[in-house]
Amino acid sequence: MLYTLARKALFRLDPETAHDLALKSLSALGPGAALLGAGAGAGEARRVMGIDFPNPVGVAAGLDKNGEYIDALSALGFGFVEVGTVTPRPQPGNPKPRLFRLEEHEALINRLGFNNHGVEKLLRNIERSSFRGVLGINIGKNADTPLERAADDYLACLDAVYARASYVTVNISSPNTKDLRQLQSGERLDALLGALMGRRSELARRHGVARPLLVKVAPDLDDGQIEAIAGLALAHGVDGLIATNTTVDRESVAGHRLGQEGGGLSGKPLFARSTRVLARLAAALQGRVPLVGVGGILSGADARAKIDAGASLVQIYTGFIYRGPALIGEARKALLP
Ligand SMILES: Cc1cc2nc3c(=O)[nH]c(=O)nc-3n(C[C@H](O)[C@H](O)[C@H](O)COP(=O)(O)O)c2cc1C
Repeated sequence: MLYTLARKALFRLDPETAHDLALKSLSALGPGAALLGAGAGAGEARRVMGIDFPNPVGVAAGLDKNGEYIDALSALGFGFVEVGTVTPRPQPGNPKPRLFRLEEHEALINRLGFNNHGVEKLLRNIERSSFRGVLGINIGKNADTPLERAADDYLACLDAVYARASYVTVNISSPNTKDLRQLQSGERLDALLGALMGRRSELARRHGVARPLLVKVAPDLDDGQIEAIAGLALAHGVDGLIATNTTVDRESVAGHRLGQEGGGLSGKPLFARSTRVLARLAAALQGRVPLVGVGGILSGADARAKIDAGASLVQIYTGFIYRGPALIGEARKALLP
């Protein structure tokens, strides 16, 4: 009810301003934000990739790119928070406008392009937060780093965040950094995963702990590509896969006045496509690599469907914009055993 009112006001603003304002207001509530969320309930905890999650519903990457709102988001009742995507150096992202609301479809289109303050600033923000829960850090490459040197950026970020992350996500599926998704193709992915898993072993030795490494994939993959990614994940011993990022497909929003805006589409129209990729990965992996289901969760039933399709955990972004904190409790309830 409270959020219905807030949403009315927020949706009158341009989407990026509304986003910043909503998160700042939430942050200003401090521990009071917990009044909006539900505390831990019995039977909600999950152990996945060796990590104890208080509940299986997390914040998807991109909502808190710089780690400025970790305390507020966790107070709302999310079981884990994934910050980023962060790049080695700060960068402004694409020119505005770059975020669009397709209200009739409960969807967003974004072409932000990894706007972020850089990995050093992210680490300082994390240092300042009092959060001691499960923190994922999602890493990417700078826009001006050539694709051939992409591994250098991912390795620099992995080195920098390793000690602070509960897990690290390798984002190779954003449609808003030129050619990034080419890193999902067989040869490039093989080389990237070889470099990253090798470095992870070194870091594990140095820090005395092996942090899980996850790879986040696009929803726009055919069956052959899905099989290839699953095979490489197994071959390299990747700890988890996140399915999926936003889609470049526009069939589901054809005819909408904003439907042809460039970027990635998220929210309700993404659900079927991303759940299909999740289910295909699950079929290929047969439980050998844990999966995180994300894309188009707008209700508890949607969250349940991700688990039924093979996910061990779920994440939410666009649904949180449309439904507010109530969706977190609803999803958690739907996922009770
Ligand atoms: C505005 C916006 C920014 C995003 N930024 C990132 C990002 O920086 N890194 C990333 O891995 N995913 C990013 N995503 C993708 C989400 O994490 C998620 O995978 C996708 O939106 C599908 O989930 P949803 O339908 O619940 O939004 C972004 C999504 C949106 C809407």
